Amino acid sequence: MEAHEKGFFSEENSVEVVTGRNANAENPRLRQVMDVITRKLHEAVKELEPTQEEWFEAIMFLTRTGQICNEWRQEYILFSDILGVSMLVDAINNRKPSGASESTVLGPFHVDGAPMMEMGANICLDQKGEDMYIEGRILDTKGKPIEGAVIDVWQANDEGFYDVQQKGLQPDFNLRGMFTTGADGRYWFRAVKPKFYPIPNDGPVGQLLRALGRHPYRPAHLHYIIKADGFETLTTHIFDPDDPYINSDAVFGVKESLLAKFDKTNDPARAQTYGFEGEFWDVKHDFVLAEKR
Ligand code: BEZ
Ligand code: FE
Repeated sequence: MEAHEKGFFSEENSVEVVTGRNANAENPRLRQVMDVITRKLHEAVKELEPTQEEWFEAIMFLTRTGQICNEWRQEYILFSDILGVSMLVDAINNRKPSGASESTVLGPFHVDGAPMMEMGANICLDQKGEDMYIEGRILDTKGKPIEGAVIDVWQANDEGFYDVQQKGLQPDFNLRGMFTTGADGRYWFRAVKPKFYPIPNDGPVGQLLRALGRHPYRPAHLHYIIKADGFETLTTHIFDPDDPYINSDAVFGVKESLLAKFDKTNDPARAQTYGFEGEFWDVKHDFVLAEKR
């Protein structure tokens, strides 16, 4: 019988001793998960050879991460976000056929029950910010318009805050709305240009970002969830390609295909039609939904 089969621990056989102890796990997926994590973690510890003090620092980081969590603050998700793990899980679970729009992270600021609006409505309820007109089409992978697609959109305001972060300051459901496409698959609505904003950075994840010489900002974006019968639901964003943080999103959510067209437009006739006073931002982006598998 080899040493690890007796259950005696050594630096050399650490993985076999620990994973061998899980042999009676009822759930084979749990056993696989713990085997892989144990193997990779022991490999990291063997490569890094942490001091006792360094290991305790790591434990205290995780302790503080748990302690700051509450109903509204989920520091572990932020940790997963800044490690790129949220985007990796999203990519693995949303592999798309060629031509379909790519997904990105949902983020913590989605709210159920946003008002269903007439196409063309202004989702900015407090008239604060630079006017913006957004339009595009919802298509299938053959380029055919999708009728009855439901678009749920939400965005930060011109100072980089969502309504739920400024309760009492912004009206409830400010910069949120839902729209249903007609037979032409087109969507269009009015809003204000969103601004880049920091992910919550007053906790352990913020401390880690600073220690790594990283900033906490996400480039300006609009969030979309698009649902249609017979198609995979698409959770994604569109981004302002000229944003100062477009190449360094703190949570790695940017993909090249999600850069929209943001043009500053001076067209008095169109501005009048939309009820805008002067120049406005003209944003265009089509989305392609994948047929349900
Ligand atoms: C967001 O875009 O709303 C977001 C995504 C990940 C972390 C924090 C915010
Ligand atoms: Fe966001």
